[in-house]
Amino acid sequence: MAERSIPLVDHRSIGRVPRVPAAAPPPTGVLLDTRQRPLRDLRISVTDRCNFRCSYCMPKSVFDRDHPFLPHKDLLTFEEITRLAKVFIAHGVQKVRLTGGEPLLRKDLDRLVAMLAGLRTAEGRPLDLTLTTNASLLARKARDLKDAGLQRVTVSLDALDDAVFRRMNDMDFPVADVLAGIEAAQAVGLGPIKVNMVVQRGVNDHEILPMARHFRGSGIVLRFIEYMDVGVTNGWRMDQVLPSAEVLERIGREFPLVPLQANTPGETAERWAYRDGAGEIGLISSVTRAFCRDCNRARLSTEGQLYLCLFASQGHDLRSLLRGNASDEQIAAAIGHIWQQRDDRYSELRGSAQAPERSAKVEMSYIGG
Ligand code: GTP
Ligand code: 5AD
Ligand code: SF4
Ligand code: SF4
Repeated sequence: MAERSIPLVDHRSIGRVPRVPAAAPPPTGVLLDTRQRPLRDLRISVTDRCNFRCSYCMPKSVFDRDHPFLPHKDLLTFEEITRLAKVFIAHGVQKVRLTGGEPLLRKDLDRLVAMLAGLRTAEGRPLDLTLTTNASLLARKARDLKDAGLQRVTVSLDALDDAVFRRMNDMDFPVADVLAGIEAAQAVGLGPIKVNMVVQRGVNDHEILPMARHFRGSGIVLRFIEYMDVGVTNGWRMDQVLPSAEVLERIGREFPLVPLQANTPGETAERWAYRDGAGEIGLISSVTRAFCRDCNRARLSTEGQLYLCLFASQGHDLRSLLRGNASDEQIAAAIGHIWQQRDDRYSELRGSAQAPERSAKVEMSYIGG
């Protein structure tokens, strides 16, 4: 397949060098893009590696032994990440999510967590500091992460059936170890815990109800994600997308559900509560109900490229500023300028003539969910 032979390293290395406006006003805590969307949520990828090979994200055929993962010198250091995070916070960021690849593979991650936990928002509040993980290493690391100041975790889990799960992670990793990781996170108070399930029709849609039954009443929020056409390696097909409306119908038939208000503007998930009081679920419907209109998310890749959309084809090379001796003021001015030009809304445009070329999208394992 032609698409699979695209060397991923290519689009990783051609980020634009940001322009530093000469006389930019200092950050005010409110930065708006061309669609009046503020910058509130920063997702930081701390490694492009993962110990799973979920076919919808890092298919083995592409991410094999020869795959050129980033060399260590290319990664932002914890000091560089923290310095950038501070600038983003000055521009209004309230929530920081650490992602990967699998973030717990990054050595000494709790040291970065402690550094970020020490930061305060423009209003003097701690960040909403969270992490997305496959939980394979969580049982071992939950306590240290909590002690370092992490508030909560989101765990990716696509099935409860051991055989289905082993097949989906493609590394024969047992589901019991993920459940043990979730338990450990619960025990140390890394909550509210969310569990994200990517639903693929014909692959794991028969696991929707078992997952719902399992997490009902546990205090854990289970969220169903429509399989997205992110990246170029997963061979995405529309007929594998199970619309959230169908998830709602299947669960609602067994457990009646009522809609809930969004917690914050620009949220990815629509929230639904079990009528019997057994908690809530979320539906993330990027394909059938795009949520670009209030998208306040920026993504920082492992090597310091700023991406304005999950489906962007190019980043902005903030590392070149960090390592080129730019001052914090200059970096803030550059980020301000980049965000003010932002016009991205890929999911809204999906399938239309304005959507970006399919062969040019960045991989999710590189910029994180
Ligand atoms: P909470 O603060 O815990 O509610 O997290 P969140 O929903 O903001 O983030 P999370 O990383 O858990 O997002 C869940 C999933 O939604 C991701 O794994 C993606 O599949 C999808 N997603 C997150 N952000 C975006 C986005 O900006 N655009 C699109 N299209 N999908 C997104
Ligand atoms: N579609 C939807 N979600 C995806 N993720 C990765 N690839 C995809 C995709 N193609 C999500 C997984 C995981 C997070 C890291 O990214 O749910 O929770
Ligand atoms: Fe790894 Fe998460 Fe991607 Fe699976 S979805 S390959 S666990 S980064
Ligand atoms: Fe935001 Fe892009 Fe996702 Fe739309 S597709 S919600 S603009 S990241």
